[in-house]
Order: sequence, then C-alpha cells, then structure tokens
Amino acid sequence: MLNIAVFGSGRGSNFSAILNAISGGSLPGTKVAVVISNNSTAGILEIARAHAIPAVHLSQKYYASEGDFADALLAGLHAYGVELVVLAGYMKHLPASVVAAYRHRIINIHPALLPEFGGQGMYGQHVHEAVLAARRTVSGATVHLVDSEYDHGAIVLQDRVPVLPGDTPALLAERVLQVEHRLLPEAIGLFAAGRLSVVDGKVRIHPEQE
Ligand code: GRF
Repeated sequence: MLNIAVFGSGRGSNFSAILNAISGGSLPGTKVAVVISNNSTAGILEIARAHAIPAVHLSQKYYASEGDFADALLAGLHAYGVELVVLAGYMKHLPASVVAAYRHRIINIHPALLPEFGGQGMYGQHVHEAVLAARRTVSGATVHLVDSEYDHGAIVLQDRVPVLPGDTPALLAERVLQVEHRLLPEAIGLFAAGRLSVVDGKVRIHPEQE
C-alpha cells in the first residue's frame, strides 16, 4: 500500500480527482494517509473531512522558525507513514530539509508546459494570463518532481491542451484543469507501481511488469 500525503491551499479539485481515481479502482494500492493545508479554511481540508481522511492545518506562521516548522512537518509525515508527498495547489515553499528527506518522493502539478510559464509568481490565473499574453496556441499541464526551486524538478508527465481563439484565462484554466485531473492520478499510479526512476536528473518510466 502506498501511503500518500496531499498538500493543498485551495479548493482541492485535484485532490478530489485522486479520491475518484482511488474509488474508481484506477489507483489500486494507494491510500491518502493525510491531507495538509496552510489554510485552515481551504476546501481541500473540507473534502478530506468528508471522506474521514486526517485533515491537518499546518502553517509556518505558528512556529518560531522554519526549522521548527520543518521538524513538525517531518514528524507528521513520518507519523502517517507517508511515502509520497503530492502537492496539489500548495502555495507555500517546502523547507529544504523536507525536500531532502523526501528526495524524488515529492510531486507537484503545474498548469502549464514546464519549464515555460513556471517559477516564482507563476500560479493560478497568472499562468494562463502569461500563456495568452505570449499568444501561444498550445498550453498544458505538468507533473514534476519537487526540488529546492519552484516548478523546477525533473518532469514526470506532461500533456498538451489547445489554446482556442477567444480564450480567457478562466476558459483556458478550466481546459487545463481537466488534464491535471487525469495526469496527477496517473503519475501517482506510476509511483505506486514502482515504474519511476531518476537517472542523471531525468525521470525514466519503466514498462509495466508482464
Ligand atoms: C491547479 O490548477 C494546480 O495546477 C495548481 O493549483 C491549482 C489547484 O487547484 N498548482 P485545486 O485546488 O486542485 O482545485
């Protein structure tokens, strides 16, 4: 059984997609052990509670230092036996010690085709506004490994989404979100099946065992 922690700061639609994949049988052997949010009123915590999944509000502002926060975070992850950390709309930076402790075991979903349109400030509608401002005809979603920089780690899965004439950031966001909801559970499934490895900083996906 792969125990995962899902981190989010917002409504939690990607978390719901993970739950749907688990209940729909396309993510066998995966369990959401805990949901963590920096935002006590986040929808993602409500969804967790509705599914009797531990929902934890954890914010660095309640700790004397980033180190104390990181220690609390790591203690919680270990207490829940977390093996994979999934960032699903988590707006905070993970402390370096957490990234180090979970090296190659933290994934993030980003609503663009990284490495473009990523990095500091590139979140939510800002991403889609930038894609439209750049007059791109294609956007997409990316699942990547998390390292010490925003939206920078090795890419696990990516899929493209057309940008249509007359698109607004909201219309493009919704079209990309549908791809996110497919891509993130798929990436978790690869991890659960032990089909991912990192070689020379790049993710390799191994074929399914016969
Ligand atoms: C998603 O668009 C994701 O790509 C980005 O934040 C958003 C989270 O949405 N990182 P939700 O909370 O999963 O609905």
